[in-house]
Amino acid sequence: MTAQGRFISFEGIDGSGKSTQARLTAEHLRQLGQDVILTREPGGSDGAEEIRRLVLEGAGDRWSPETELLLFTAARRDHLERVILPAIAAGRSVISDRFADSTRIYQGVGRADLREKVDALHDLMIGREPDLTFLIDMEPERGLERALSRGGAEDRFENFGVALQSRLRQGFLDLAVQHPSRIVVIDGDRAIDRVQADITAHLDRLPA
Ligand code: ADP
Ligand code: TYD
Repeated sequence: MTAQGRFISFEGIDGSGKSTQARLTAEHLRQLGQDVILTREPGGSDGAEEIRRLVLEGAGDRWSPETELLLFTAARRDHLERVILPAIAAGRSVISDRFADSTRIYQGVGRADLREKVDALHDLMIGREPDLTFLIDMEPERGLERALSRGGAEDRFENFGVALQSRLRQGFLDLAVQHPSRIVVIDGDRAIDRVQADITAHLDRLPA
């Protein structure tokens, strides 16, 4: 894949290895000569990083599911306007650790059945999908083990436990079935370099 200006997201449950693989993919594309920005959600712009602290820290019931949906969407709008779209317009490739699929699944399936509102808000305020999404699939027990071993204060979601993570995993897999040309499912329960080799093979097969 040599063409510049592609928008690629990484999705999956907590601890599945998204950040690791997003970073390795950015390095791979840079080695091929691409101008790449590596970014993340929630966050990725100054304003969205402030919202990140509001949504990821504190008690689990700090926000209602509806308010949380608005906060994630506000963060995404800022990230899109100020970072993603300008980068693509300048011909750069964008790799984002999570994007709108996370809201579809975490807010739309995981915590409350808000999927219709998630979709309506997405159409109204975001209206953009990545060109390609890697879904790193993983047993929830293994993902949670990895995520909790990192420590830190950003644990509101991880603290909801394995039952929730299982529903999220299934939600992501269902989404991949609904969007087969955009979402590629990758088995994340392997050594880091094996997972990376799979992703690289997909990227290298794409038309320029
Ligand atoms: P995510 O962004 O999906 O939460 P990370 O990439 O931050 O996941 O990985 C979570 C933890 O698991 C990190 O400590 C990371 O080094 C480790 N890790 C990532 N991928 C693998 C893998 N394939 N095998 C073993 N450990 C991994
Ligand atoms: P992230 O930092 O990617 O966590 P992890 O590395 O553990 O996967 O994301 C933080 C949390 O935010 C994660 O539990 C998923 C949640 N989240 C949502 O609930 N909705 C969203 O739209 C996004 C982008 C993230």
